[in-house]
Amino acid sequence: MFKPNYHFFPITGWMNDPNGLIYWRGKYHMFYQYNPKKPRWGNICWGHAVSDDLVHWRHLPVALYPKDETHGVFSGSAIEKDGKMVLVYTYFRDPEYNEGEKEVQCIATSEDGVNFMEYENNPVISKPPEKNIHAFRDPKVSRAGDKWRMVLGSGKDQRIGMVLFYTSEDLVRWSYEGVIFEDESTKEIECPDLVSIGGKDVLIYSVTSTNSVLFALGELKEGKLITEKRGFLDHGTDFYAAQTFFGTERIIVIGWLQNWHRTDLYPTEKEGWNGVMSLPRELYLEDSDLKVKPIEELKSLRAGKILEENTPGTYGINTDKNSYEVCCKFQGNLSLSLRSEFAEELRISVEEDVLRVDTTRSGISGGVIKEVEVQRGKNDKIRLFVDSCSVEVFFNDSIALSFRVHPEGIYNVLDVESCFLKVSIYELENIWI
Ligand code: FRU
Repeated sequence: MFKPNYHFFPITGWMNDPNGLIYWRGKYHMFYQYNPKKPRWGNICWGHAVSDDLVHWRHLPVALYPKDETHGVFSGSAIEKDGKMVLVYTYFRDPEYNEGEKEVQCIATSEDGVNFMEYENNPVISKPPEKNIHAFRDPKVSRAGDKWRMVLGSGKDQRIGMVLFYTSEDLVRWSYEGVIFEDESTKEIECPDLVSIGGKDVLIYSVTSTNSVLFALGELKEGKLITEKRGFLDHGTDFYAAQTFFGTERIIVIGWLQNWHRTDLYPTEKEGWNGVMSLPRELYLEDSDLKVKPIEELKSLRAGKILEENTPGTYGINTDKNSYEVCCKFQGNLSLSLRSEFAEELRISVEEDVLRVDTTRSGISGGVIKEVEVQRGKNDKIRLFVDSCSVEVFFNDSIALSFRVHPEGIYNVLDVESCFLKVSIYELENIWI
């Protein structure tokens, strides 16, 4: 009932973070934290899928397995070296059952993009640089000048989140260069990613304190990220462990449409699966600010227009599934709600410069009210992607809010009020090939 139609999900089993996002030999590869055995975290492998267009996906065989269930192949990234695909990841051993280092960094190589050979002298980083460092994981590697550089998540004294920085010439011997960034609001930083956008260095990272993805934008100088601006990469409740692609010109990011605090609320485990990826988004810099918009390719999913109106009112949506995109252009204030026959409701409003999303009555997993300040234009635009168990809200191609919602009915009534408006709803196609 809650299986998504146009979002990537694991069909069976458990999925968390996107890993190893890479454009390689004309295809997009996505790996992910995966437990094929049951819809619960554990026995973590690297699941694998491939796409020609970032929209339609095909599942491939599992790329990396742990030695046994007390081990795990944790998050990491992918790069291309000498024509081969190289995965860089954290290998985890549960200290309750194993001796030695809990988290070490490893690599694996592939000639064909399907079969992976673990490097025989793994690990390539065998311990944290200092004793008081924990959560030593999630390597994201990129190319800078004539070197490889790695950012790694961690925490210090069980108190402060940190991003560690390493460089290498061959992906095998790594030099520790120090801490480039700290965040005192969280005990540890997970899944850091350092990218260059519009001439700025942008660090994207996940925090366990609020289970959200943040960004810090500035300049990496003398081993530190000098921050000019910080903020949320997504303002909703369900977006975590985001990562950008290696090898694309645009900066494209995907996050896990879920978070550790709220996972237990989601009813999909009964259906044998757990975990959804966000739609791919493009990041760009405008007016010195980091902005986010859905990738253009998503428009190719539009199967047909099932509604178009230009006056305020209440309208029936001609659909039998929660799988559509609402596109709304307006001036002044806006109030828009989608309702099902079970009195479930998704409500979005814009009043002056406050955008508000209310998912409290969206379905059986409940929800929240989120408010965020937005920059108004002469005309404003909202796009909502509704898909069985999630809604992603984009305002003016600049900010995003993501939520898991689990309605028992179909949101097939639209209620909309605004000064001037055009509202269109497109049915979106299934993505599996
Ligand atoms: C983030 C995370 C990573 C870790 C992985 C384990 O959600 O906790 O830090 O590598 O999940 O599955």
